[in-house]
Amino acid sequence: MEDSIEVILQDQSRHHHHNRDHPVLTASTGALLTGLYGIWSLFAMPGFRKIPCSLKVPYLPSSKDQTLNIMRLLEGRTGHLADLGSGDGRLVFAASSAGFQCTGFEINSLLVAYSRSKALWIGVPPSQATFVKKDFWKTDLSIYNNVTAFLAPGVMEVLGDKLLKELPDDARVIVCRFPIPHWPHHSSVGSGLDQSWAYDIGTVRSRLGTIQSRD
Ligand SMILES: C[S@@+](CC[C@H](N)C(=O)[O-])C[C@H]1O[C@@H](n2cnc3c(N)ncnc32)[C@H](O)[C@@H]1O
Repeated sequence: MEDSIEVILQDQSRHHHHNRDHPVLTASTGALLTGLYGIWSLFAMPGFRKIPCSLKVPYLPSSKDQTLNIMRLLEGRTGHLADLGSGDGRLVFAASSAGFQCTGFEINSLLVAYSRSKALWIGVPPSQATFVKKDFWKTDLSIYNNVTAFLAPGVMEVLGDKLLKELPDDARVIVCRFPIPHWPHHSSVGSGLDQSWAYDIGTVRSRLGTIQSRD
C-alpha cells in the first residue's frame, strides 16, 4: 500500500507546474514556513513525521452540522464504515449508533487514546466502534463499503485515486467540506463550510471511465 500511494503521488507531481517567478524569495519563504510547520507538528501532531508533507492533515473537529450532514448522506446504508482521520471519534460514534460497524483510523495517538476511553466510558463495544492508530494512506480499505473523510483540499485528488483503486463497486464515499475533484457526486447536503458530498464508487468508475475513453 505504501508503494501504491507513492506511485499516485509521483503521477500527480508530473501534472503540477512549479512557480518560477521569484525563485530566491519563494525558496526562502518555503523553507521558513516548512521549518516552523515542522517544529509545530512535532508537538501538535505526534505520528505525523513519516507522512509525506503533501499529505499531512491537521486535527480540526467537525461541527454538529457537518456530522449531521454526513449522517444524512449515510441514510439507507449498512455495513462496514471506515472514518479516515477519526479525530476524537465523533463521527465514528454517530455512525455506530446508526448501526454501522465502524473503524476509525487516526495517526495521532492522543486522539486514539481519547476515542478508546470514550468508547469504554459510553459503553460502545469494539464490534461497533474500533479505533486504530494507523496511517490510512498505508491501509488497504477494500473491506469497507462506506468511507467517510473530513480532510484537506490538497489531499482530495490523491484520496480519490486511492479509493478508486481499492473500494468495491457498491461502496459509498462521503466527504465533508472538501469535494473530490472531477468526481460526479450522487448527492450533497448543506452549504458553505458544512457541505458534504456522497459518491457511489460504481457510478464514479463508470462515468470517469467513459470520460477517459472519450479523450
Ligand atoms: C480535519 S480532522 C477530522 C477529525 C474527525 N474526522 C472529525 O470529523 O472531527 C482530520 C484528522 O485526520 C487525522 N489524520 C491526518 N492524516 C492521517 C493519516 N494519514 N492517517 C490517519 N489519520 C490521519 C488527523 O490527525 C486529524 O485528527
